[in-house]
Amino acid sequence: MTIQMVDVVGQYKKIKTEIDEAIHQVLDSGQFIMGPAVKEFEASVARYLSVKHAIGCASGTDALQVAMMALGVGEGDEVITTPFTFVATTETIVLLGAKPVYVDIDAKTFNIDPALVEKAISSKTKAIIPVHLYGHAVDMDPLMKIAAKQGIPVIEDAAQAMGAEYKGKKAGGIGAIGAMSFFPSKNLGAFGDAGMTVTNDDHLAEAMRMIIVHGSKEKYKHEILGVNSRLDSLQAAILNVKLKYLDQWRDARREAALRYNDLLKGLDVVVPQEESYAKHIYHQYTVRLKKRESVVSILKEQKIPHAIYYPIPLHRQQAFLSAGRSEGTLPVTEQAAREVLSLPMHTELTQDQQSFVAAALRKGLAS
Ligand SMILES: Cc1ncc(COP(=O)(O)O)c(C=O)c1O
Repeated sequence: MTIQMVDVVGQYKKIKTEIDEAIHQVLDSGQFIMGPAVKEFEASVARYLSVKHAIGCASGTDALQVAMMALGVGEGDEVITTPFTFVATTETIVLLGAKPVYVDIDAKTFNIDPALVEKAISSKTKAIIPVHLYGHAVDMDPLMKIAAKQGIPVIEDAAQAMGAEYKGKKAGGIGAIGAMSFFPSKNLGAFGDAGMTVTNDDHLAEAMRMIIVHGSKEKYKHEILGVNSRLDSLQAAILNVKLKYLDQWRDARREAALRYNDLLKGLDVVVPQEESYAKHIYHQYTVRLKKRESVVSILKEQKIPHAIYYPIPLHRQQAFLSAGRSEGTLPVTEQAAREVLSLPMHTELTQDQQSFVAAALRKGLAS
């Protein structure tokens, strides 16, 4: 049986006519940079996330960097974040000359533990970046309360969480700024790199609009330091089509997750938890298991795709050793890195494929 980790082509084929037409419209218009497709997508995302401003940019990584630049994060500042995430979250902090200050995660959700954040705050803390990992929202209320008390802005890394909810609010629309990614494998995926920042703050929005075009409002007049990070019109046109299907696709993922939960019942694995405050979008369906090596070897043998997000936490990565922490200092994260395993998850997954994956897990756990 052939199973894909993410089926981007299968999904495209189902809406091919619409997508192809949208692409051709851009090609015929010649408006490849900042065209009407970009404006339309920004307005649609702002509506979808219930935020005032949405500003397209070239990737989720850039969204994080642009957000921090707008908040003035720079040399000598500290940014509180999670060590259990994709590298981009830490990388952009370090690129701006700031220091990531890691806080351990909650064992059930894999997200930053808000109860540990206050202790990590210092006079140098310039921002807090929680990550809604795997598509499950961070417990935002306690986090926002601590941040507000100290006057520190929160940037939500919602790269994996387009459509995820926290107490009925969309992830990304809760903090000062939300950073979104439309990398092809994301729940709302472009056909290349694409990202966005969102905010309700007019001043931050204005700053971010300038930063993505070399720090200018007017051509060749550069008021602040910027970058070149625009959302491509072709990608925006594709995303305009796909956004209409996002909730339907979220529901398909949620159904697939429930099917996995059933199929894995009774096995020695911890299935993903959904806290009462959250609506999980299952960007990843990630289980925890002690016998990961034996399960992985069976999955490999049966050519079942799988992934470990993330095998080495960021505080132990060679590239960031100056901001690193010694082994054992973030124990919940380190245990998660040893135990997590993500299974195939996408909108085209069938019950038969899931049964096949579950049978392989059963075999691996029994060996
Ligand atoms: C948590 C997280 N943050 C940031 C990013 C960066 O997004 P992009 O790949 O669009 O640059 C990703 C993407 O994989 C991510 O998973």
